[in-house]
Amino acid sequence: MTNNKPIGLFDSGVGGTSIWKEIHKLMPLESTIYLADSKNAPYGIKTKEEIIALSFKNTELLLELGCKIIVVACNTATTNAIKELRAKFEVPFIGIEPAIKPAASNSETNCIGILATKGTLSSDLFHQAVLNYPNTKIVEQVGYGLVQLIEDGQMHSKEMTNLLQTYLQPMIEANIDYLVLGCSHYPYLVPQIKEILPKSIKIIDSGEAVALQTSKVLSETIGLAKSSLNSQIFYTNGSPEVLQNVLSDSRCIYTRDF
Ligand code: DGL
Repeated sequence: MTNNKPIGLFDSGVGGTSIWKEIHKLMPLESTIYLADSKNAPYGIKTKEEIIALSFKNTELLLELGCKIIVVACNTATTNAIKELRAKFEVPFIGIEPAIKPAASNSETNCIGILATKGTLSSDLFHQAVLNYPNTKIVEQVGYGLVQLIEDGQMHSKEMTNLLQTYLQPMIEANIDYLVLGCSHYPYLVPQIKEILPKSIKIIDSGEAVALQTSKVLSETIGLAKSSLNSQIFYTNGSPEVLQNVLSDSRCIYTRDF
């Protein structure tokens, strides 16, 4: 079945473009519409009810724009609102959660680190996922301030390096051999993180897995696109420059209030 309607993605800001890149790489014929809800970032310090309301608002706009599937390109929104989204809307949803499974399954030190938002680490979904790995020590760390610095265009600042150093040092001391990036903004921090971590510690995120899952669901249900006339559209209610910077290639970015 062919379905040329766009894939819709949303995030609390520019971070979910790390997921968009994986989706576009795997499925270049698909049209996409990305919403960067930067005006409301960070989601990670909001209540579950607030995160659900913002996720509903973003989904309603993506559906108005004709999307065939919604990728919640935000760990915080997924872990706090995916159940409510699926209950309210009929469209298929793909969520993103911290990649605990590959890290815990492959860890040789039986100790892994997870850097994520407060909203993700305190969610029921995350707590349940952790219960599956009773033999793995999981060092959890809230990345306070990291998303805000990225949204403010301060990704390469000294303040960012200092925060990362503070958050990662206890993980190094605990002897982790995997660091799970549990927030879609954090893949943009990999160069700085690599400067701090010993080379033996592997860094993983969920971007590729989300793209594969999206492709699988589309091909099994509502259909993949087959048109070369596809378009990649980005809407932001914050700074178009910060969004353009993380995208690197020049893209169609529109400012819009939502
Ligand atoms: N990109 C969001 C995530 O994956 C960041 C959440 C936030 O805005 O705090 O969790």
